[in-house]
Amino acid sequence: MSTVLSAVAWPYANGPRHIGHVAGFGVPSDVFSRYMRMAGHDVLMVSGTDEHGTPILVAADAEGITAKELADRNNRLIVEDLVALGLSYDLFTRTTTRNHYDVVQRMFVAVRDNGYLVQQTTMAAISPSTGRTLPDRYIEGTCPICGTPGARGDQCDACGNQLDPTDLIDPVSRINGEIPKFVETTHWFLDLPSLASELGRWLDEREATGLWRPNVIRFSQNILEDIKPRAMTRDIDWGIPVPGWEDQPTKRLYVWFDAVIGYLSASIEWARRLGDPDRWRRWWNDPEALSYYFMGKDNIVFHSQIWPAELLAQNGAGDHGGTPGEFGQLNLPTEVVSSEFLTMEGKKFSSSKGVVIYVRDVLERYQADALRYFISAAGPENQDADFTWSEFVSRTNNELVAGWGNLVNRTAAMIAKNVGEIPAAGEFEQIDRDLLDQIEAGFVTVGGLIEAHRQRAAIAEIMRLVGEANRYVSETEPFKMTTEDQRPRLLTVLHVLAQTVTDLNTMLAPFLPHSANEVEKALGGSLVIAPMPQMQEVEDLDGGDPYPIITGEYSDTPAWAHREVQVGAPVAKPTPIFQKLDPSIIEEELARLGAEPAEA
Ligand code: MF3
Ligand code: ZN
Repeated sequence: MSTVLSAVAWPYANGPRHIGHVAGFGVPSDVFSRYMRMAGHDVLMVSGTDEHGTPILVAADAEGITAKELADRNNRLIVEDLVALGLSYDLFTRTTTRNHYDVVQRMFVAVRDNGYLVQQTTMAAISPSTGRTLPDRYIEGTCPICGTPGARGDQCDACGNQLDPTDLIDPVSRINGEIPKFVETTHWFLDLPSLASELGRWLDEREATGLWRPNVIRFSQNILEDIKPRAMTRDIDWGIPVPGWEDQPTKRLYVWFDAVIGYLSASIEWARRLGDPDRWRRWWNDPEALSYYFMGKDNIVFHSQIWPAELLAQNGAGDHGGTPGEFGQLNLPTEVVSSEFLTMEGKKFSSSKGVVIYVRDVLERYQADALRYFISAAGPENQDADFTWSEFVSRTNNELVAGWGNLVNRTAAMIAKNVGEIPAAGEFEQIDRDLLDQIEAGFVTVGGLIEAHRQRAAIAEIMRLVGEANRYVSETEPFKMTTEDQRPRLLTVLHVLAQTVTDLNTMLAPFLPHSANEVEKALGGSLVIAPMPQMQEVEDLDGGDPYPIITGEYSDTPAWAHREVQVGAPVAKPTPIFQKLDPSIIEEELARLGAEPAEA
């Protein structure tokens, strides 16, 4: 049994979230965490909304409201969506809590006092017409590294390199097209070169485990080669005040410096809310504890370089030495689990281009588990994946409804009609034992795949077993066993089917938590197979504004193992658990999107 931190990327609160976000890390991190709990590990799953930085400020300006008001609104929308999806966070919080501000400032001081933050004077872009600082990502120009036009001042999406606005060739403001003026400004820089050898050592050690996805480890090692100091403060008035610079309200900590610390501050907040304020240390200070970070590929650099660098600096473990700060010796990530991108109807998701499907819109019209199924079976796990409404309909109807749903439904219907309760088995025949053995072996195979972050293969294996069970029904033909002398055989077959559905339902619980609880009830069971998250309104622990969190009690979950079906449990005539989709919704949804159907 291990102590496992599930650290899930923090969604920006600049708008509601689209299905690309939950496909990249929301659902995969939940599947992993639910599975790990069932496998007996002590999981702490944390995240929250990422509420600082320019995009939020710009969106708020455009609406004529404050950044905090905009963040409040989107935080609530995002919390509601993630709860509806059934994501089992121990704590989903936000970066505007006083606890987060405090932890971030303490980290900053610890990193600074160990000598890993240095002041440098650089050039900042300002708008000649307004005199206001032009945020990095609102300047665009040609990437000096790969030569692609349209690179942003913070990052080039084409080659993935981090940039500074002054690096850009022919910079212009994305806000009004004017050419920015560069003026001198002083900032705190994280001295990444002095942490590079330790980062390299850590990455080599991680590579040796063979666990990281090859593209993620390679990318992380590559960006180590031209590592340079990076500004951890910005000319912006929305963000966390910089310790020591309290008199400079237009300088704030860089949003990425604070956001990644959220994993730690959320763990601390979780422990404080439990009334056991040091409890978080088990996940962070115990060198045996495991930590998995889930994100999309545009976040890799921040999780395989900036965050580990902050941790090493706090620990006093870089070239300048130092001593661990008050947080003690903090663990570096065990694994950075990064997904690829989800495109939609052949195009990359983009709110600005209007090619976007919001989580909320899907959940208002379809079952959460149908979306979770699509993401698990066809998501961007190892390569970019495309969401199309036609594939959503076919996977829902052919796999979820006609495969799994049908197995559950006919099993419960036959038991209800013929017995009214789970029957005891008579003597097993070879065909019975073959099926039961295959299903039991599934726990090992499927569990191994989930642990290796191969969820597409894991759910494919479960669906293969569902197919085997449906084939068993066709071969044994229990629906034809109508005579009295066939009854003993009928009861045995129905028992085998009830057992099979029970075990497959256990395996599907991490993927399809909502329906797992319903399948359990349909077979007369009374267990909570998949505990659900809850939204709670809480007070800020340190006197800030109240806010909604996601939390839950997830420890009471069945083990990841074969569990004997309960003979005698009453089984009533079932109502279908999965909703079959009318193919007409494809046209309807495409019209909503204003998109042409994808080419076949
Ligand atoms: N807000 C970022 C994004 O949506 C992710 C931040 S992850 C964190 O891309 F750990 F830094 F918070
Ligand atoms: Zn580039």
